[in-house]
Amino acid sequence: MDNHSIRSAASELFPGGVNSPVRSFRSVGGEPLPIARGSGPHVFDAEGNRFIDYVGGFGPAILGHAHPAVTAAIAEAAADGLTFGALGPREVDLAAAIREATGLERLRFLNSGTEATMTAIRIARAATGRDLIVKFDGCYHGHSDGLLVRAGSGVATLGLSDSAGVPQAIAGLTAVLPYNDPAALLRWFEAHPSDTAAVIVESIPANIGLITPDPEFLEALQSVARAHGALLIADEIITGYRLHPGLSGLLPRADLVTLGKIIGGGLPIGAIGGPASLLSLLAPEGPVYQAGTFSANPAVMAAGLAALQQLTPAAYQRLEQVARHLENGLTTAIRRAEIPASVVRIGSMLTLFFTPEPPRDPAAARAADTAAFARFHRAMRQRGILIPPSQFETWFVSLAHNEPEIDATVRAAAEALREAVPA
Ligand SMILES: Cc1ncc(COP(=O)(O)O)c(C=O)c1O
Repeated sequence: MDNHSIRSAASELFPGGVNSPVRSFRSVGGEPLPIARGSGPHVFDAEGNRFIDYVGGFGPAILGHAHPAVTAAIAEAAADGLTFGALGPREVDLAAAIREATGLERLRFLNSGTEATMTAIRIARAATGRDLIVKFDGCYHGHSDGLLVRAGSGVATLGLSDSAGVPQAIAGLTAVLPYNDPAALLRWFEAHPSDTAAVIVESIPANIGLITPDPEFLEALQSVARAHGALLIADEIITGYRLHPGLSGLLPRADLVTLGKIIGGGLPIGAIGGPASLLSLLAPEGPVYQAGTFSANPAVMAAGLAALQQLTPAAYQRLEQVARHLENGLTTAIRRAEIPASVVRIGSMLTLFFTPEPPRDPAAARAADTAAFARFHRAMRQRGILIPPSQFETWFVSLAHNEPEIDATVRAAAEALREAVPA
């Protein structure tokens, strides 16, 4: 089937023609691009057109696509049978590797990041006997009811401050505070000293474009919550294993950590990690219920372990080098084109914002010229470069990206920027 027939069949089958909103390309004024396969730094559409890919499956594809060690591990696991609803050896291997790298004492595997954050909050409420949750404007933690309150990601793109179908009684238990604003956090706890179960935060906000956390804010997150008996949940679903082998290291005093994306090697996963005192609240040891038919699925565990085995300290040095090359190239192209745009990069994550200065917080990110971004996206795509189809997503560089791909990307960007913002 060609791209057009896939799109038209999908538009009859799926709401909006897709199974997850950002894939619709609506925010860049386009149509979904059906991707048939990927290899290394490239993806190929259904007509065989090749693109250098920076979507990276929205985070998991740190090794590039179809890494042979990962596909072989999946094939081997599949040959042993796909699902037993029982404890198995591969989950022990993956958990031991994660514990070794992160220091997280106990883990629970689930099927998505959404499940991980939803359950972390349930644990926090059970542990504290409190109901209120604090999250931050622009941070996305998946699509559970209580967390779809001024979230980022597709929600930011669609301009929804909230989702329909979430009862006010649930949304009303979530307070949304401005990001990078320690004073607002202090004020919240002064006003509600003993009602807050948890503060949940992305260790680095990456769902409103990429925002750099201020050190004072990171410090306040770790000290203020604890001082008032609330737990801190570090959402490392994007940042876990993205910057180092293990956690980002930005919130070392978090009580609970959520993981996902990279640790599944490209298959669906989520995980919660923390001390035995909190994780033992989960059933069957404790009173907090959580379960899953597919949890710790053997093929997922095998893919995750194979991926993590590739992620040596040297691999992260290489990622840093390649991503810095991309950042420098884009920054030079912006300067030469004399365009009000900026680049924010942390390790192998990057956003090119159509704002004159790198935004310090989500409110500033929202001021970006999204029409210029849409033109940029289209111009890049015409030149064989696929970046995430929204100003409010993060580009991911993988270990399969090498200098030739980066140079081709920068050359394309130099032209695409001029098309995005004509003189
Ligand atoms: C920081 C963060 N938390 C949670 C989630 C939800 O994960 P999932 O899409 O696997 O449910 C995402 C997904 O993009 C995310 O970026």
